[in-house]
Amino acid sequence: MMDMFCVEGGHSLRGTVSVDGSKNASLPIMAATLAIDGEVILEQVPQLQDVATMQQLLQSIGAAVEQHTDGTICVDARDVRSSAAPYELVRQMRASVCVLGPLLARFGTARVSLPGGCNIGHRPIDLHLRGLAALGADIRLEAGYIVAEGSKLRGADIDLCGPHGPTVTGTCNILIAATLAKGRTIIRAAAKEPEVEDFARFLNAAGAKIFGAGTSIVEIDGVAQLHDVRHTVIPDRIEATTLALAAAITHGDVTILNAPTTHMTYVLNAFNLIGIPIEATHDTLRIRAASIQRPARLTAEPYPGLPTDCQAQFMALLSTIAGKSLITDTVFPERFMHAAELVRMGANIRIQGNSAIIHGVTRLSAAPVMASDLRASAALVLAALAAEGRSEIRRVYHLDRGYHAFEQKLNQLGAKIQRTNDGPQNVVPRPHLDSLQPEKQRISYRHTEPGDHM
Ligand code: EPU
Repeated sequence: MMDMFCVEGGHSLRGTVSVDGSKNASLPIMAATLAIDGEVILEQVPQLQDVATMQQLLQSIGAAVEQHTDGTICVDARDVRSSAAPYELVRQMRASVCVLGPLLARFGTARVSLPGGCNIGHRPIDLHLRGLAALGADIRLEAGYIVAEGSKLRGADIDLCGPHGPTVTGTCNILIAATLAKGRTIIRAAAKEPEVEDFARFLNAAGAKIFGAGTSIVEIDGVAQLHDVRHTVIPDRIEATTLALAAAITHGDVTILNAPTTHMTYVLNAFNLIGIPIEATHDTLRIRAASIQRPARLTAEPYPGLPTDCQAQFMALLSTIAGKSLITDTVFPERFMHAAELVRMGANIRIQGNSAIIHGVTRLSAAPVMASDLRASAALVLAALAAEGRSEIRRVYHLDRGYHAFEQKLNQLGAKIQRTNDGPQNVVPRPHLDSLQPEKQRISYRHTEPGDHM
């Protein structure tokens, strides 16, 4: 049986709500603890399914992990002897690939399952492998596993640009491997996301020498060992944006605390374009959504651009605003599974290539819908908040992967969301799409020149 939401739409949200720690900062940081010779204390880690999966993965590899209810996680990986991450855990979460760099760096060898398919489009990991190969690792794919070997990693000049821009988790994998490699590494076209910057801040606090994280050129001087560290994870800019959009779509008045507003410049610009008044201090947002809002043309791009992880939620909002809007996603050009479900709620959306053309409707109508991935579920919840009538959203396990107590936070603001069970008759196995082509499994990864996107 799986949880579902019953949402009674039409209630304006009002009040104050607080943002949790960032999922996408926590996951690579937790993975990197495998390379640390000491005790790690992480604060403001959100209580999410993905965090629980990462915790299980670390434990299965042999790390001691303790999670406290105050959002603190303590990891001690000093006794880890294994360097293998099994398929059963990796397939549940793509971010598991973040253990590849730490395991290779620490043990000189790593065997990590390939993550398999993904509902938001094709997600190769060639750039991760290219970067590790550049540091001297020998990488082969064997029966669905990446096998990386390299006991003497050496600093290198690495270009991490892919066809859709830089890679966030790929940059983290190379940062940690380069940290324990000998000599100096330069990463060009590094991802500039705040989560990568937070990752580097964490490693530097543990003794790493990383310069320039948060810009596209990062330099790393290798060190022999990393030591005890305490780190507070940054707040989640995607959760903050989703809550702001919940206020906007219900024409509410909501104050959002612990919002990382300096990481949200393009999001705030998008609110401006749409004509939604939003007041920001360094850690607070107040959205007082006027009833008149404007259509807009938005593009999801790598940071500092509008995040692809908010694209679906902005689509829900633009579906309710009269006029023609356009949303383009340059990061994941096929990330539009939510559009068909929004259409079931009365939205008028057409997908053309990597864009969605949206003709706003006066009112969405409630419908039974199905969440296909994490951000799609958030978009459906937003749409249901604005829709007339009672919507049912199935497969909210996707939502639980990335939002802690989401319905409770919204209900505190006046939403009417009930979590219930959808009964065994509706249980459909979780999709598992294995996008890997058989011939690709035979490819061996070696260092290639910048610009060669293997
Ligand atoms: N790409 C490649 N080759 C690679 C890696 C990526 O071509 O080796 C492509 C991807 O296919 C995509 C683009 O590069 O077109 C960017 O992918 P990236 O590697 O940056 O994505 P990721 O690191 O796997 C993280 C977040 C995602 C977020 C993306 C983009 C974590 C754990 N995940 O994924 O978050 O959408 O960056 O910002 O940090 C989410 O939270 O809902 C989520 C999917």
